[in-house]
Amino acid sequence: MTNPSNNEIDIVKSNKSKIHDVDFENLTFGRTFTDHMFVCDYIDGKWQQPKIMPYQAMTFEPSARVFHYGQAVFEGMKAYKDDSGKVWLFRPEENHRRINISAARLAMPEFPKDYFFNGLETLLKIDKDWIKSGVGNSLYLRPFVIATEPAISASPANSYRFMIICSPAKAYYSGKVRVLFAEQYSRSANGGVGFAKAAGNYAAQFYPTSLAQEKGYQQIIWTDANTHEFLEEAGTMNIFFRINNTLITAPISDRILDGITRRSIIQLAEDNGVVVEVRRVPVNEIKEAARNGSLKEIFGAGTAAVVSPISAFEHGNDVFEIPDIEKSFASMFKNQLQEIQHNLSDDKHNWRREVK
Ligand code: COI
Repeated sequence: MTNPSNNEIDIVKSNKSKIHDVDFENLTFGRTFTDHMFVCDYIDGKWQQPKIMPYQAMTFEPSARVFHYGQAVFEGMKAYKDDSGKVWLFRPEENHRRINISAARLAMPEFPKDYFFNGLETLLKIDKDWIKSGVGNSLYLRPFVIATEPAISASPANSYRFMIICSPAKAYYSGKVRVLFAEQYSRSANGGVGFAKAAGNYAAQFYPTSLAQEKGYQQIIWTDANTHEFLEEAGTMNIFFRINNTLITAPISDRILDGITRRSIIQLAEDNGVVVEVRRVPVNEIKEAARNGSLKEIFGAGTAAVVSPISAFEHGNDVFEIPDIEKSFASMFKNQLQEIQHNLSDDKHNWRREVK
């Protein structure tokens, strides 16, 4: 990979902020964007001069490969502001690492680390007023890369655009989430792209999820594509099951996203002396545990969703309601995670990175 000799950013600022039009108490996830965005093109084997410019619509040729073959990857991250006004990122090196893992799987070029952090941190400093302090508030960051080359032969592009857009966020799911365990459709297959944050992984879920929504479920918990007997992930979140006091989650694989929140929760569980089993999770085991009362919790974990308790699931026409529980693992891990993210507690694993 060849990079330009420096990653100095060409900055054009917006002449009027939109911030005063935003009701920060009533945000719908992913609908409101800050004043600026970061853009860097890849042409002729090189990342070009990065830019920060006012958030705006862009023009692409209709033949751009992304529109035809879905050559696109993205990340989800958040910035937090503490009560003294300092801005923090949570394990951002992991997002940089993962976008490059995703890109490699889709035959896209890696984005250099110095470009990523310089772009992200400069953008956050420019749009810092959009980050509201207080637990529950964050600025959701969406780095992504698309294939821009105007050519419709089915092969990797030779030009790309890397961008970061930012959206103030509160909760992704309002209230508890009811889920359907997948019995027919699949999200990913062995040797596929399930582990990558590839745009197409999300599009592939929309139709089955809309069928689930018609039945009153917000999400699907995907099962392995071969047998549909093992629970894997929810598509917007990794999934944890608590049987009695043991926390169980599926191992990452080429079908499952290596979630940063997932990994953080496994670490927090170990820090709290909770027994964690990372192993295949049979649907039948969870149904049996729901029947005999040993299933105490199911919750999802992801950047956007943070930690989202699941209140019910359906499989094979059996519906199981999961009763509320005091001192849930979900609320304990959510609080501990948010306290670290908002600089309210010790950060013994060095997960926070200040944007200076
Ligand atoms: C995230 O949690 O950042 C995700 O990428 C999920 C997304 C579909 C909102």
